[in-house]
Amino acid sequence: MSRSSSRLGYKAAFMFWSLVPFIAANEDVKEGVSKVQEADKLPHESQLRLREVVFVIQSQRNSFHVQQAERLRADLLLQTEELQESPPPILLLHTLSDSEGDWSILPSLPYFSSHFGKNSSWIMFLEEETNVKLEKLLTVLKKFVRRKEWFLGKPLHDDESTIIHHYAFAENPSSFKYPDFSAGWALSIPLINRLANKVQQEPLKSDFTIDLKHEVALYIWDEGKGPRLTAVPELCTLPENSPTAQHCATAVSTHSPLCGEPVTREDIFVAVKTCKKFHLERVPVVKKTWEKQASRLEYYSDHADPSIPTINLGVPNTDRGHCGKTFAILSRYVSSSVPKTDWLLIVDDDTLISLPRLQALLSCYDPREPVCLGERYGYGLGQGGYSYITGGGGMVFSREAVLRLLASGCKCYSNDAPDDMVVGMCLNAVQIPVTHSPLFHQARPEDYARDFLAHQIPISFHKHWNIDPVAVFSKWLNDSDSSAERLSTRLKEEL
Ligand SMILES: *[C@@H]1O[C@H](CO)[C@@H](O)[C@H](O)[C@H]1NC(C)=O
Ligand SMILES: *[C@@H]1O[C@H](CO)[C@@H](O)[C@H](O)[C@H]1NC(C)=O
Repeated sequence: MSRSSSRLGYKAAFMFWSLVPFIAANEDVKEGVSKVQEADKLPHESQLRLREVVFVIQSQRNSFHVQQAERLRADLLLQTEELQESPPPILLLHTLSDSEGDWSILPSLPYFSSHFGKNSSWIMFLEEETNVKLEKLLTVLKKFVRRKEWFLGKPLHDDESTIIHHYAFAENPSSFKYPDFSAGWALSIPLINRLANKVQQEPLKSDFTIDLKHEVALYIWDEGKGPRLTAVPELCTLPENSPTAQHCATAVSTHSPLCGEPVTREDIFVAVKTCKKFHLERVPVVKKTWEKQASRLEYYSDHADPSIPTINLGVPNTDRGHCGKTFAILSRYVSSSVPKTDWLLIVDDDTLISLPRLQALLSCYDPREPVCLGERYGYGLGQGGYSYITGGGGMVFSREAVLRLLASGCKCYSNDAPDDMVVGMCLNAVQIPVTHSPLFHQARPEDYARDFLAHQIPISFHKHWNIDPVAVFSKWLNDSDSSAERLSTRLKEEL
């Protein structure tokens, strides 16, 4: 890796030397050269101490995730001991304040600046499954002149402009790089301090938070007024033991988490939202792909069709949101009309999902807790807004979450209100956290960066637009019987 500042110094020196034949031998020139080179070396970068690096784990409030974050913190402290360094601050993002917006990073910048803006050099962000080799990481950070503004990470880019990034950079989608959070990413303190000022002076504009890593990169770049992401080859998303990962300071596990026996099919009640106009178009795709993975599943429509069969919930279909329909589903789920299960999954008729992978993931969660799980989006997070699970990727609820939500009396303000957002608002009101899993997807595989999907085993995708949904299911979500066997072998090895 070259730090661009030293390259700049080198270039400047080169220019001076090429001028030398034209200027009479002149002490000033030589002095100029050495000044440029020296300025780059100050202050002594090589003396960067570990305690000047503040680690921020992008943690979540759900008990399983707290445990994962604590495990990472313990691992970092153990490595610190082995290096005989004094321990760095290690913060769990979800504990910084009571503000729901903290996970979106930008609202937390003033906190980082006021606590560490004068006595630290870097804020290093980690996801809970990011493995870190501290010694290597320190060597990497030492290469950068820390009194400058740096935004470091493993770059992702879009191959096509995508809805999840509001079709940004449509003329050249791959030109804009944003960090893969899984590899870890870092901001130098001078950048943190400037951004913290900006956050305090101009209220954060964004209404929706959809793909945080892209939105953070856009905010920092600020249409060219701020730095772009600097690619750091040592920040990796390869598995730790991969032979090509020798140089890496970070690694991730490509396995989806598995904490015990997968929950059984009978533990999950599946609700598919459809409507008459899609009975012939979308429902057959569900039947051809994942319906047979479910043991308890009902289709809910505005029209009863015994050939599917669908249940008419008596809620008229609406073109925009489906709040009325979703709340009717929640009420039915806790009623005696359906078998009692630990988990409820609500999907759209154009959601593609792997139930065996969901069964494995749910082994990590306690259904006695109020759990709401899926792909997290945010609304108005800069101004005390709320988070919600975006409906298209699938919304997973523990029975306890549904009971508490209904008991709160929280309701749709209209039948066509956006169901996922209203559910989010209600959960926020009763202080049930929504839990993010990057394995659920509100959009199609082509809407996500290839390198991002490369290190995950996805659980869902959404929308049939311009794709063959059966082919997408086969390629991205369908496991052969032998992969189910591999899963049970892995389980035996790990437990
Ligand atoms: C900087 O100050 C914070 C408290 O505001 C403290 O937790 C941290 O350890 C300090 N870091 C160094 C390098 O002194
Ligand atoms: C999914 O995989 C199973 C088992 O290998 C296979 O029988 C089935 O046809 C596949 N379905 C699709 C839609 O690819």
